[in-house]
Amino acid sequence: VRQLNSQDRVGLGWRDALAASIFSHLDAIEVVEVIADDYFDASARVLRSLRSLGTHVPVVLHGVTLGLASTVAVAVDRLDRLAKVVNALEPTMWSEHLAFVRGGSYEIGHLAAPPRNPRTVDGALRNIALARSVVGQTLALENIATLIDPPDSSMTEPDWVAGIAAGSGSALLLDLHNLYANAVNFGHDPCLYLQSFPLERVRLVHISGGRWIHFESVAHGVSARRLLDDHLHDVPDVVFSMLRILGERCAQPLTVILERDGSYPDFAVLLEQLLRARQALAAGRRSVVHLKEIDELATI
Ligand SMILES: [Fe+2]
Repeated sequence: VRQLNSQDRVGLGWRDALAASIFSHLDAIEVVEVIADDYFDASARVLRSLRSLGTHVPVVLHGVTLGLASTVAVAVDRLDRLAKVVNALEPTMWSEHLAFVRGGSYEIGHLAAPPRNPRTVDGALRNIALARSVVGQTLALENIATLIDPPDSSMTEPDWVAGIAAGSGSALLLDLHNLYANAVNFGHDPCLYLQSFPLERVRLVHISGGRWIHFESVAHGVSARRLLDDHLHDVPDVVFSMLRILGERCAQPLTVILERDGSYPDFAVLLEQLLRARQALAAGRRSVVHLKEIDELATI
């Protein structure tokens, strides 16, 4: 088990505001994640400098605007632009969300959850096959956070994600804060909800923080609170507990990325969260070794 997981990596999202600090702390950062869409219109010179980043630290690439989970086909020109960044950077893996982001010519402006039913499973499978044919094979699919239970759904979120991952043979990028938000917003225990996902497919993991929001609809007589995944706050304790469970349940190496998109604290605070992530993952790995030792003793 120790040997299998010696390839675990913990790092953070590459952001312009963090670039200088990342470069001066590469001894504590094992991987960075670059947002592909930020470089869709980049010049050859900028792409070359981005490629040089990969000589200092392993890089994974993350897409945000393909809209894979849709019955509408992904535009090939978007895939061509993504392929250009993938070819320039040669990341160890690229990822995209299981979300839709536009309807017709209208851009929603955020990652929206489609109805979870066989039609959107089929649409996602067609789009993933198209994306692979243009961009390449090393795709991981990310679960998203949603504030509403998507109407017209006939499948649970774990079954829907599992169906698309199995049907496409894809790895998963499991976003633990997205999963936590959906669990608490819709009445599930986060740690049990985590274990209903196909954890054997997880290769990448996101951790981040969010905040509680309250809303009221006088017209509908509804008052509720929801956890919003905003990437602007520190990682809550429960997410580290979930990461420990992943360390226990996953035999495969995991790459963990801290996502922070603004309200940046002192960089030491982000390094502390990377350290806690490393410790949580290691604690999960150790408990597996411990259980194996108990198992072996029991057979003596
Ligand atoms: Fe994420």
